[in-house]
Amino acid sequence: MGDIHSFAYIDPSARVLDPQLSIFLQPERIRIGAHSRVDGLVKLQGGEGLTIGKHVHIASHCTINAGGGTVEFGDHSGCSNGVVIASGMPDLSSLYISAADPIERQWPLHLKTVIGKHVVIFANATILPGVKLGYGCIIGAGAVVTKDVPAFAVAMGVPARIVGRRVNQADGTMAIEYLPKLRDLAAERDIERVRAHYGNAMPEQMAVDLVNFVDELTREMVP
Ligand SMILES: CC(C)(COP(=O)(O)OP(=O)(O)OC[C@H]1O[C@@H](n2cnc3c(N)ncnc32)[C@H](O)[C@@H]1OP(=O)(O)O)[C@@H](O)C(=O)NCCC(=O)NCCS
Repeated sequence: MGDIHSFAYIDPSARVLDPQLSIFLQPERIRIGAHSRVDGLVKLQGGEGLTIGKHVHIASHCTINAGGGTVEFGDHSGCSNGVVIASGMPDLSSLYISAADPIERQWPLHLKTVIGKHVVIFANATILPGVKLGYGCIIGAGAVVTKDVPAFAVAMGVPARIVGRRVNQADGTMAIEYLPKLRDLAAERDIERVRAHYGNAMPEQMAVDLVNFVDELTREMVP
């Protein structure tokens, strides 16, 4: 099963709680950065490489790097209880798709799944192999994420859909704004109006990004 002493790297400030309760496969391919925390009762698979950045939190009952490909976690990201992050699966063109089939008959597909910086994945969500979660995005509880998610987007449901975006508020905090309101705000592509709505706290580039974000989503939804 391996133990934390067999990890490729673990920063002295990182914490792995109750490691005797967890499963670490291919620990020699697991790297954990400074100030990160991995709770007990997790399954981490090194696969072709599992890199956990700085200040990352992985809660109990998470399965990370299922399928044995590559997973990268950006700094300040986190997974709530029961999250599954997959990076591989059997090649479904083969009849032999059980992991217990003889090894010479298995054709696993290995991909790279990337969790950006400042991302949170809420309880029991599943991230499918090869998906990239953009900077600062939020994945709602129970979602199944089948496609890439852009920066600051909020995605929920099965399959996950983008339902909103994180925005900067005048008091320096961030809030979730849902699509109907975003559409209304961005309808005229008036950057100054968008900025004024948030007390001019939003930098101009961010307001431009927000308008483009809504534009793109709207275009994707029109058949
Ligand atoms: C992402 C999240 C924070 C959004 O919360 P929120 O902004 O307060 O959402 P609201 O409750 O205002 O709901 C907004 C809409 O989204 C829907 N919704 C909320 N969460 C949802 C989810 N996870 N999946 C699907 N739909 C969801 C609501 O039903 C509502 O829809 P409606 O407008 O048609 O009624 C929430 O979905 C979530 O995942 N919370 C984390 C819970 C968790 O995992 N806690 C334990 C570890 S910290």
